[in-house]
Amino acid sequence: MAYTVPKLKSFTPAALDKAVEKLLAALKLEAAAVKNEADWKVFRDRWMARKNGVLTEINDLWLKAAPKESKREVGQRVNELKAAVTATVEKDRTGVTIAPAPAVGKVGAVLLSVSAEPAALDITLPGNRRPLGSEHPVIKTMHEIVSVFRNLGYSVEEGPVIETDYYNFEALNFPPNHPARDTQDTLFIARQESKPQRDRLLLRTHTSPVQIRTMEKMKPPVRIVIPGKVHRNDPPDASHSPMFHQVEGFMVDARIAFSDLKGVLTHFLRQIFERDAGVRFRPSFFPFTEPSAEIDVQCVICGGSGANKTGQTCRVCKATGWLEILGAGMIDPAVFKFVGYDPEKVSGFAFGMGVERIAMLKYGIDDIRLFFQNDLRFLRQFS
Ligand code: DAH
Repeated sequence: MAYTVPKLKSFTPAALDKAVEKLLAALKLEAAAVKNEADWKVFRDRWMARKNGVLTEINDLWLKAAPKESKREVGQRVNELKAAVTATVEKDRTGVTIAPAPAVGKVGAVLLSVSAEPAALDITLPGNRRPLGSEHPVIKTMHEIVSVFRNLGYSVEEGPVIETDYYNFEALNFPPNHPARDTQDTLFIARQESKPQRDRLLLRTHTSPVQIRTMEKMKPPVRIVIPGKVHRNDPPDASHSPMFHQVEGFMVDARIAFSDLKGVLTHFLRQIFERDAGVRFRPSFFPFTEPSAEIDVQCVICGGSGANKTGQTCRVCKATGWLEILGAGMIDPAVFKFVGYDPEKVSGFAFGMGVERIAMLKYGIDDIRLFFQNDLRFLRQFS
């Protein structure tokens, strides 16, 4: 029920107290309900309008109606009420401007410039610190590797970490039971004996299966880089982790030659290690490339001399002066047959590398396990 100013039957101090109390209670209640500029105007007019405002009414119904002997007493109360109402209406006005109300037009602008209560804004308080995250050194290195190839016009593809035997091995020319499979100690998903071998699931041991998946859906010419996570059944030590990252790449077109592979990888190594280091190709074997090579870069620690400044043997390259970085080769025609490419018409090269190893060499980290212990003292050094 909205408050209305009553006529007073009695003008004794006790009766006046009671009437004043009721009026102030109503004032408080209505002030609290003011939410925005429009509310506030209605509120102000209801209490202070010259015509029919509550203050005008107490003037008429209480002061003017008071018997002579009570006039002083009533006059004093009415004055106090006027002060209380005016103060409340003024206070509510600032409240409205602080609240996120749609303050409009001239009134809004003026109100925004009269400041809020002094305590509402203390510019000496410290700001809110929002700690920024940063890239993990492995991810950062992976992005750097990928961007060298993107700058050469390669596109990025990704594939599943849980892979089938077919994509991880068979289509890459590792026949079932072939001993080359033993070079990648594989983690298999349990209880799949009832499935044909090629459909059995495993954690991919390399990113090479994405070569197959990409060639199945794209016709040559293709230039692709494939970053991703791989797993092997290796117990962790300073240079092994059962989970690590690789970046794979390959190119297929008419007349791609081994010299193209040499040029691309030499450029890549010089970009990623930011120096004109020597690069060496050694013959090797992978089932999915023929011929195959392992590619070394001159040791980034000792500069290829095999010894450090004080003449002690370099532990990183074990005094050889060379670091093995990549596996690579010309894609085997047998692989092209699995994906429906014609090895008489196209040729290509492929390569793969371990991201952690490159990050370790770039930053001088001597234990791969540091990457996966989530120790902020280690990780913050790369932010
Ligand atoms: N997949 C190989 C591994 O993990 C690395 C590799 C070697 C990838 C030669 C290639 C390649 O694409 O041509 O050991």
